[in-house]
Amino acid sequence: VNDLYRRGTLDGDPPDFPVSYDDLRTAAHEAMSWQGRAYVSGGAGSDETFERGQDFSAWRIVPRMLRDVESRDLSTTVLGQDLPVPVALTPLGIQSLLHERAEYATAEAAADVGVPTVLSSLSSTPMEEVADVLGSTPKWFQFYWSSDEHIARSFLTRAEDAGYDAIVVTVDAPILGWRERLIERGYYPFLEGDGVANYFSDPAFRDRLDAPPEEDTEAAVEEFLDIFGDASLTWDDLAFVREQTDLPIVVKGILDPRDAELAVEHGVDAIGVSTHGGRQVDGSITAIEALPEIADAVGDDVDITFDSGVRRAADAYKAIALGADLVMLGRPYAYGLAAGGADGVRTVLRNLLAEFDLTMGLSGREAVADIGLDAVRHESTLV
Ligand code: FNR
Repeated sequence: VNDLYRRGTLDGDPPDFPVSYDDLRTAAHEAMSWQGRAYVSGGAGSDETFERGQDFSAWRIVPRMLRDVESRDLSTTVLGQDLPVPVALTPLGIQSLLHERAEYATAEAAADVGVPTVLSSLSSTPMEEVADVLGSTPKWFQFYWSSDEHIARSFLTRAEDAGYDAIVVTVDAPILGWRERLIERGYYPFLEGDGVANYFSDPAFRDRLDAPPEEDTEAAVEEFLDIFGDASLTWDDLAFVREQTDLPIVVKGILDPRDAELAVEHGVDAIGVSTHGGRQVDGSITAIEALPEIADAVGDDVDITFDSGVRRAADAYKAIALGADLVMLGRPYAYGLAAGGADGVRTVLRNLLAEFDLTMGLSGREAVADIGLDAVRHESTLV
């Protein structure tokens, strides 16, 4: 942090990459193709949940003073795994639409900065190759349930063999939300062959095809669209994932405490509070609105991950105060990737962590575990 201020203000040499989220988004939009913009920007329907979900201002940080915060510790433990920071990267599919180096660039930056990373099932690159780039960085695999059981099983086995440390089962997107930016342009990313590399490299998927995807890409994409997603799933189906893997299971996309309780009853290890970045149910409760009740219901039983709308360190700090054990970023790193590849993601992560470290110290907390419910107040309680 000191370094940044010195370079920025004392030497009169401002950083050459955007610092604020708004400037970052502008730079990314300039760098992206219209396909990238249509894919990453905004949310479902009217964007109500997307927009409201970025507003954490109903919660106010209440700083404490003179508490010796000289040596601050950002490390934490989630799913029994020691993590260097309480911030991770959410799974974002089809990163080839954002930058030519796609998930490789993201993984390289995450490994450099030491930020845990969740890789999407819909990655533009095979999961084994991304795992290699991530090396010893904590890495989780996000699982989209294929309606073909062989493929679902194959994905879980591959993830475990490739060294991923946990499986994140996304339950809020068995079908895609109403995304007007895509619909208006008649654009469906998969049709162009993006986001299918993980499937195309999968032996069980290849078994379904008459010809290898390299020879008949169109038929392979059609096949992918047939097997991707399964809206008939119920809680009992989680047993299938449990049987396939010994890895801890996170269920991502929970907004109702009753679902959080059901998830715990069905043996999951962590709950992911998320609106999918406002991309699925327009008009829904936001993640930060849903978090306190969910933490109250299951926070003592399982770990809680949180994403959707986190733009700055203060947002992450508030989510941790309200019960999140790990806070995940989506758009900020997507825009870093689009605007500057691996360097862009590195800068976004370093800036956010520096700001988090400052927020923690200036609020009188030396360690992540010290950020409890007493660190924030809701505006409704202020007289
Ligand atoms: C996503 N998200 C997502 N989630 C998931 O489980 N699998 C996926 O493949 C994707 N793909 C994806 C692509 C893009 C472009 C976006 C913006 C989002 C949802 C993602 O994991 C996360 O829930 C949100 O992005 C978090 O919100 P913010 O930080 O983007 O507001």
